[in-house]
Amino acid sequence: MATLAEKVARPQIRQTQCFIGGKWVPAASGKTFDTIHPATEEVIAQVAEGDAKDIDLAVDAARAQFDGGEWSQMDARDRGALMHKLADLIEAEVDELAALETLDNGKPISDSRAADIPLVIDCLRYYAGWADKIQGKTIPIRGEYFCYTRREPVGVVGQIIPWNFPALMAAWKWGPALAAGCTIVMKPAEQTPLTCLRMARLAQKAGIPDGVINVVPGYGPTAGAALVAHPGVDKIAFTGEMSTAQIIQRSAAETMKRLTFELGGKSPNVIFADADLDAAAAGAHFALYFNQGQCCCAGSRLFVEDRVHDEMVDRLIQFNRDRKVGDPFDPETEQGPQVDQAQFDKILKYVDYGKADGADCVSGGKRHGDRGLFIEPTLFTNVTDEMRIATDEIFGPVLTVLKFSDIDEIIRRANNTNFGLAAGVWTRDVGKAHRFASKVRAGTVWVNCYDVFDAAAPFGGFKQSGLGRELGEAGLDAYTESKTVTMAL
Ligand code: NAI
Ligand code: MG
Repeated sequence: MATLAEKVARPQIRQTQCFIGGKWVPAASGKTFDTIHPATEEVIAQVAEGDAKDIDLAVDAARAQFDGGEWSQMDARDRGALMHKLADLIEAEVDELAALETLDNGKPISDSRAADIPLVIDCLRYYAGWADKIQGKTIPIRGEYFCYTRREPVGVVGQIIPWNFPALMAAWKWGPALAAGCTIVMKPAEQTPLTCLRMARLAQKAGIPDGVINVVPGYGPTAGAALVAHPGVDKIAFTGEMSTAQIIQRSAAETMKRLTFELGGKSPNVIFADADLDAAAAGAHFALYFNQGQCCCAGSRLFVEDRVHDEMVDRLIQFNRDRKVGDPFDPETEQGPQVDQAQFDKILKYVDYGKADGADCVSGGKRHGDRGLFIEPTLFTNVTDEMRIATDEIFGPVLTVLKFSDIDEIIRRANNTNFGLAAGVWTRDVGKAHRFASKVRAGTVWVNCYDVFDAAAPFGGFKQSGLGRELGEAGLDAYTESKTVTMAL
């Protein structure tokens, strides 16, 4: 068996600079920041720390490329073909990219190899197919006129992404932007810049013209804020925390940028007593613990009908006991470390809140091991709706279980939150399932399943969980402007 250090050394880190106008350049300030492997906390690379200067250069490159029209006015089918080429190059490197993702983020290699990178490829191919299918309408207006709409690219887009699915979030944002003919300045999360930079290199190799995709690694309040404020940017697409989105919304108001936000959640996952309890238990476990609990749509409020509550808790505790936590490069590992010290500390703070507020911690509740940012799969019972562990997004492997007794009660309690990203319901009663699905205020509802994503299915939040939708045709619309043309006949 190779040692952890040898395995960690496996993926080569080739790109660590800013990618601007097709060139790899250091930050104008010369500064760099460290990125770590969260399982060992070892520094794995020094990455260019872009700030306002670099954002200026990147926006100039994206603007020149957009206004020059090489990409935006390219034959749409050719644009789609280049996107397919990018997807093919990523597919050819799927193992290497998965290892790089695991190295930078700490997620298990089995997840990055089977989920993250294949979903990147799928998303790019899905949107490649849209490139030549972006159509307007002819509109029968009053009078002797010919009226039609065109859907045109929104322009230069600033894209700011988080660290929980680094490559996949890049793909969700690049796919519709590229298909629509936009040009891009992306700021990856400071915790996880490496796969995005690698994908930018592959985009160049695929023949996507210089200046179409620009990547400036750096921090939020410097590089991110400069991108949001820049007058040369037409739209910001952001995924991350609600309070960051509010800062962005205020700043973007100055220049009336188009905005799409995909934010957090405290998603209800509801198990009725008539459900297939084996499937529901496995589903509830997966809905929360997948990706170390670092999912915007995590099923973090698990409501269980009182008749089956105790039995369900027993099953969930057993799942936690069996869960393999450890070296993310071990193919058997199911749970790796949290992404960084700040997240690790936040999660353990919430475990303390849960105990202080009177909930019972029946599984886990502390650090796993003594090295790396690992947290035991943790389960709280005797949770009430107003406890902090039941209202706030924890973004870690901490599941809270609540009891309910009837459908009207559960619909009311499920909706008693400012979030509205996702919801799950487990039942064999079709009527109950549809009633819940229609009444719950959430952008996605999963029935007898959870976390089923597809590039063709729109995703996004009601209420404070977001603005607009990503994926599917709706995701594409968010990268176009509609133009009405009226001609006298
Ligand atoms: P964050 O919202 O601060 O970071 C997300 C991205 O925004 C990063 O690229 C960051 O550099 C950038 N950013 C930060 N401040 C900015 C600013 N003023 N202007 C422009 N860009 C800015 O989220 P963070 O701090 O990484 O995580 C905090 C919490 O947010 C997590 O514990 C979790 O609850 C939530 N979160 C939700 C995510 C989701 O998928 N909905 C993803 C990541 C975090
Ligand atoms: Mg932050």
